[in-house]
Amino acid sequence: MSCGVVPSPVTPGSSGTVMFMCGIIGYVGERDAQTVIISGLKRMEYRGYDSAGIALVTSQGIDVRKKSGKLVNLEKELQAHPMASSHQGIGHTRWATHGGPTDQNAHPHLGQTGRVALVHNGIIENFATLKAELAKQAATFTSDTDTEVVAVLLEREVASGQSLLDAMRATVGRLEGAFTLVAVDTDSPDTVVAARRSSPLVVGVGQGENFLASDVASFIEYTREAIELGQDQIVELTPSSVTVTSFDGTPAVTRPYHIDWDLSAAEKGGYDWFMRKEIFEQPKAVADTLLGRINADGQLTLDEMRIDTAQLRSVDKIIVVACGTAYHAGLIAKYAIEHWTRIPVEVEIASEFRYRDPIITRTTMVVTISQSGETADTLMAIRHAREQHAKVVSICNTNGATIPRESDAVIYTHAGPEIGVASTKGFTTQLIACYLLGLYLAQVKGTKFGDEIVAQVRELEALPAKMDEVLHDLEATLALARDMLSEHTVLFLGRHVGFPVALEGALKLKEISYLHAEGFAAGELKHGPIALIEEGLPVFVVVPPQGRDQLHDKMVSNIQEVRARGARTIVLAERGDDLAEEFADTFLPLPVVPTLFQPVLAVLPLQVFSCEIATLKGYDVDQPRNLAKSVTVE
Ligand code: AGP
Repeated sequence: MSCGVVPSPVTPGSSGTVMFMCGIIGYVGERDAQTVIISGLKRMEYRGYDSAGIALVTSQGIDVRKKSGKLVNLEKELQAHPMASSHQGIGHTRWATHGGPTDQNAHPHLGQTGRVALVHNGIIENFATLKAELAKQAATFTSDTDTEVVAVLLEREVASGQSLLDAMRATVGRLEGAFTLVAVDTDSPDTVVAARRSSPLVVGVGQGENFLASDVASFIEYTREAIELGQDQIVELTPSSVTVTSFDGTPAVTRPYHIDWDLSAAEKGGYDWFMRKEIFEQPKAVADTLLGRINADGQLTLDEMRIDTAQLRSVDKIIVVACGTAYHAGLIAKYAIEHWTRIPVEVEIASEFRYRDPIITRTTMVVTISQSGETADTLMAIRHAREQHAKVVSICNTNGATIPRESDAVIYTHAGPEIGVASTKGFTTQLIACYLLGLYLAQVKGTKFGDEIVAQVRELEALPAKMDEVLHDLEATLALARDMLSEHTVLFLGRHVGFPVALEGALKLKEISYLHAEGFAAGELKHGPIALIEEGLPVFVVVPPQGRDQLHDKMVSNIQEVRARGARTIVLAERGDDLAEEFADTFLPLPVVPTLFQPVLAVLPLQVFSCEIATLKGYDVDQPRNLAKSVTVE
C-alpha cells in the first residue's frame, strides 16, 4: 500500500476530507513536465513523506526516478542523471504504511514491460489475491507494495489493445479498498488518466495544459481553476481537454470552482491550522485505521504482529509505555485490554519506566505507543524491556521509524502525517489500535468468543460517523472558547476511561493556550483538588454512559459537589442524559457508544475548544512555544 492524499477542497468541518497524506501530481501541456512535477511535489512536502518519485513519458519511452527519504535525494539523482525532456508525467510523495520507505517501494511503479507508470494513494484491500493471480501468470514484482500489482494489471489491459482510459476503467473494476490512481502510457501521448475512490483528487484546468493533484497547492501557481473529482470517477487529461466519466463509463457531472485561497491556506486544505485540519480528519483517520483489519470470516488480522500465537498466549503481564498524549491513550487501553483479556496491564510514563527497575520476564509484553516513533524516552524504555527479554509491540503512525524497527511487532495507525504539535488524530487512532490489540489478544487467548469480538469491531466501525456528528455540532464549544478567553485556570474531571480523557483535555489546553489546566480522577476531588473550586471556575466533566449506573451516578454527584461551590460546569455526556444535563451550565452532548469507546468522541470537543481558544488568543496553534513535534532527546 502506499498512502493517501490530502483533504479535498472542502469547507472546514466537512466530512469530505480524507486522512491520507501522500502527494500526487500529474501534468500534460507545453511546459517542461519535470519542472512542474518537482515544484508540485515541493508544495506538498509540508505534510511529511518518506520517499518521492517522478515518471516522464519521453521519446525513448517512460523514464522513472524514485528515491527514499526527502525530495532533495530525488533532486540530487536528477542532477546526476538528468531525465530526457518531456511534457507529460506524474509524480508522488509517499507516506509509507504497508511496505517500508525504500527506493523500490517508492512510486511511480511500472508494469512488467515498463510501458505504463502509475502512482497510487490509498489501500487496495484485495491486492494479495490479485498478486497471487498475476504470479500464477508468471508476473514478477520488484516491490512489496499493492501499487505495483495495480501497475501490472493496468499494463496488461493496455497491452490487450485498450486505450489507457478503458484500461483504467477495467482495472478499477478489479480493485477493492480506497484508492486514487494516476497513470501514463508510452503509447498514449499527451494523455494522463486518473481514477478516484475515497481519496480525493483535483484537476487544475489550464490554457493548453492540465494538471492533476491531491492538493491544489501543487498547481495554484499555474491555474486557480479547478475541478474536484467525485467518488468513483475517472478523468482523462490532454493539453486541451478534461473528460470526466463514472467508473461505469457514463459522463459525469463536474463541479468547477475557482481557488481563492493563498498558498499557505491551500497547504492546510482551507483550514487556518494543521491542528484544526487534523481534528476534522479524525473520522477518516479512524476509518482507515480499521480498514482491512477483519477478514471475511470475522477474524482480526493485525499489520505485522510477528509474535506467534503460542507466545501471545503465554503473556501474563502487559506494560504500556508512552509519553504525553500517547500515555493518555495507554491509560485508556488498560481498561479495555484488562476487560477483554483478563491480563493485568500497567501503564508507565516512558521517562519513569526504566528507572523504577520494573519487573519484566519473558512472558511480559511491553506495548509502546508513539505517533512519531522517534520519542527518545519511549525508545530507551523499549531497549531496556528487550534487554530483559520482554516481547515488544509498538503502536506507531510512522512506517519505518526507529521504535517500530526495534520492536518485535507493530500495529500501524493510518492517520497520515500529523503536522500540528498538539496530537489529535494521532491520539484517536492510537485508541483504535489499542482496542484492536486488546481484541486480538482476546481472540488469541480465547477470552472472548468470535461473535463478541466481531460485535466490538462493528461498534468501532460505527465510530467515524459518530465522530462526524460531534464535529458537525460545535457551536456551543466554539462559544465557550470565546466566553472563556480571560480564564486562567480550567479543570477537567472524569471517571474510568473518562479520567484519561480529562488528562488529555488538560494537556491540549495547556500546550497550545498556555493556560493552567489540570485533569483529575473525579473521585479524587474530595482528597484535595476540591479546594481549588471557587466561584465561576470552569470545570469540564466527562460523564460515563448511563448504562454504567455506579460510575454515572457518582459522576453526577461530583458535578453537584463542584457546582455547589460555584464552579461553572461544562458537561460532556450522552445525548439524552437528562440527569447530567440538569447540572450543566453548558451541556455538550455525545452520541451513544459503549463506555470503553466513549473517549474517541469525548476528546473531540476538548480538542476543538483548545484549538479555538489558542486561536482567539493569537497564539501559533501548530507550533506552540517551547514544544517540538517529536521529542528525540531524553
Ligand atoms: C501531545 O499533544 C504532545 N504533542 C506530546 O505529548 C506527544 O504526545 C508526546 O511527545 C509523545 O509523542 P509520540 O507519540 O510521537 O511518541
